[in-house]
Amino acid sequence: MSDDPQNVAGHSPPRPGAPALPPSYDPAHTAYLPATNAQVVVQTENLIKRFGEKTVLNGINLTVRRGETLVIMGASGCGKSTLLRCLLGAHPPDEGSVRLFGQDMWSLMPPEMDAVRKRFGTLFQSGALFSSMTVGENVALPLKEHTDLSQDMIDLMVKVKLELVGLREAEDLLPSQISGGMAKRAGLARAIALDPELLFYDEPTSGLDPIMTGIIDGLIMDLARTMNVTSIVVTHDLKSAFRVADRMVVLNEGRVVAEGMPHEIKGHPDPFVRRFIQGPIEAKTAIYPKSALDKGPGG
Ligand SMILES: Nc1ncnc2c1ncn2[C@@H]1O[C@H](COP(=O)(O)OP(=O)(O)O)[C@@H](O)[C@H]1O
Ligand SMILES: [Mg+2]
Repeated sequence: MSDDPQNVAGHSPPRPGAPALPPSYDPAHTAYLPATNAQVVVQTENLIKRFGEKTVLNGINLTVRRGETLVIMGASGCGKSTLLRCLLGAHPPDEGSVRLFGQDMWSLMPPEMDAVRKRFGTLFQSGALFSSMTVGENVALPLKEHTDLSQDMIDLMVKVKLELVGLREAEDLLPSQISGGMAKRAGLARAIALDPELLFYDEPTSGLDPIMTGIIDGLIMDLARTMNVTSIVVTHDLKSAFRVADRMVVLNEGRVVAEGMPHEIKGHPDPFVRRFIQGPIEAKTAIYPKSALDKGPGG
């Protein structure tokens, strides 16, 4: 069983004939117009999250529009995963609010909460597949839990989703029999089982080689474009981030320190953001003390 990059159903750049970006999101023209209510999928207002004495998120204001891919960046431990968990209703905020599809999860009764949960999918770093189930059974799980579809229909849907991520031939394999990249793709097939409108990704490319990283990035972009999925991607992989993002935010010390389109983040004046984006370059120049550079070669 190979982890063949060619085997993926269409990755970036978009295939000829692929649908254009959804009309509700046009990065070139509307990204900075105030979003209308109909366009807003996720919104936080002054979101504060503490663990004990520690304030991890300290007043986050975010608006995510339908069809866009928002990348959340920041140093390790700065609260990216915590923010994601707050957004999808896994952590209650200590202060402020989080609205998903216009609804505050924590004001809902369990059946309404379930209805909201069905509208989004998650691909988490630790979102391990159930090891005793085949890849196909893992993908079928949400369909069995949340729909009344017949077994035949579920079987068909599983095949369609696996085909989308290029894993059709892995259906009967166990998680222990597939590579890390295939496991991420299987997790993605499971995340899209219910045709979500919104996908949360937490470090979707961590631990993958550059080729598989490119494939996962391509799938993220493809799902956004072809299925009009709104995507929120947490990553510390800068290359991936700049590849998939329509818009980016950078977190530091519990706050959003920069927000904008990729080119704006690249040229952002905030010192932390500059260091974060240009870290590796500065690290290289830092090898040479300034006095040595002033003297020139051999000086
Ligand atoms: N459930 C939790 N209980 C206590 N502390 C937590 C919990 N989850 C995260 N933290 C702490 O919150 C901070 C941010 O963590 P996290 O959101 O995982 O960061 P990131 O994803 O940016 O690496 C860390 O200091 C972490 O130890
Ligand atoms: Mg994390």
